[in-house]
Amino acid sequence: MGGIYRIIGGTRLAGRCEIPAAKNAVLPILAACLLTDERVGLENCPVLEDIANMLRILEALGCRATRSGRHVTIRPAGAAHCEMPDALSKRLRSSIFMMGPLLGRFRRAEVTYPGGCEIGLRPIDLHLKGLRAMNVAIREAHGRIYLDGSDMRAADVLLDFPSVGATENIMMAAALTRGETTIRNAAREPEIADLQAFINAMGGRVSGAGSGMVRVQGVNRLHGASFRPIPDRITAGTLLCAAAMTGGEIELDGARSDCMDAVLAKLREAGCRVSAIPGGIGLDTPAGLRGVDVFTQPYPGFPTDMQAQMMALACVAEGTSILVENVFENRFNHASQLVRMGADITIHHRTAVVRGGRLTGARVTAKDLRAGAALVLAGLAADGVTEVENVALIDRGYERLEDTLNALGARIRRVD
Ligand code: UD1
Repeated sequence: MGGIYRIIGGTRLAGRCEIPAAKNAVLPILAACLLTDERVGLENCPVLEDIANMLRILEALGCRATRSGRHVTIRPAGAAHCEMPDALSKRLRSSIFMMGPLLGRFRRAEVTYPGGCEIGLRPIDLHLKGLRAMNVAIREAHGRIYLDGSDMRAADVLLDFPSVGATENIMMAAALTRGETTIRNAAREPEIADLQAFINAMGGRVSGAGSGMVRVQGVNRLHGASFRPIPDRITAGTLLCAAAMTGGEIELDGARSDCMDAVLAKLREAGCRVSAIPGGIGLDTPAGLRGVDVFTQPYPGFPTDMQAQMMALACVAEGTSILVENVFENRFNHASQLVRMGADITIHHRTAVVRGGRLTGARVTAKDLRAGAALVLAGLAADGVTEVENVALIDRGYERLEDTLNALGARIRRVD
């Protein structure tokens, strides 16, 4: 996979930048567009590889999808296929978000086991169990899943674990299913509340998202809508770490501090000054950084999607940090690469112990999206030149990260 970032470390980041809509909000919302046959307009959608692939999937299913800058328009009237294209599904884990909406609209779906970042097993048993509870007949053969929802009905679904994707899939399947579906032990991520807001903007009746109990009252039809998904709390968190690690000072327009408590608390603990500013978040780093302990958890706990960036920060902080990854079983891909840059990291099962010090530039490889972001941050703070391979993985979740960072004073360029 292509692209290399060349980073000259040691410059302090300063300035202001704007946070686009959250990838993890936009992806399920794009899937939910299938629930209507009317036009949907989405604002502030970043240009990302994962979103481009989702648009391709919608087109393969018969929708029209167009983009003008950050504005995306979906015209789902022509959707006629219930079979997900194999090659595209494998590129993107979020392709499984299509199960719920396809069942909602056509009462039938055919999907492939999904692809996505290599960060553990990532099964979809909870999605399928929830759909089975709604009386969907499911057959698996030759790597494909055949779902028959002709007798679908509302149900009381209890998730064994608060999975983000399973909660969203069941919400979408239930939106057009008569009666009240309840999801208990639902995931509480802000992107789920945003999906609820979107479905309701189309005329749906969903409540409770953001709590552990979501209620979906099925309606007969949903209409078109214009919607602005929530800003990306992980992009915001990544940029805050970048500023902290370079002793910098930044302001993020549009970032929502109310969705980022766990990350902001850790940055404060590390010695940063974090403040709510009108319409955003400000951060400066008055003195050096201190190590912090981090335990990833489902929301409102510390997000697994910020663990790699926090590990990079721990590498340049004073003292020892302990990071425990509780959500995914194989998400320390970045550690071996940080070690190449001089980091002192010991890993035992799901726990990493980081003894802070200095980093020096090296050639390293991004193994997944957030691991790649962490290596860029490490490069910004390191002495000398760092080269990060596999930039295409970073492009899945950050819109031209080099432009954002250079505008803040970094020295990073894409070479190939
Ligand atoms: C979403 C996010 C991803 C984030 C993750 C956890 C999107 C597009 N992606 O992914 O960035 O890292 O939440 O915050 O929103 N699991 C099962 N069976 C299932 C489903 C999940 O065992 O059927 C397990 C997973 O393997 C993982 C854990 O549950 O260990 C959390 O997964 P889940 O919350 O479903 O994450 P995603 O929706 O895939």
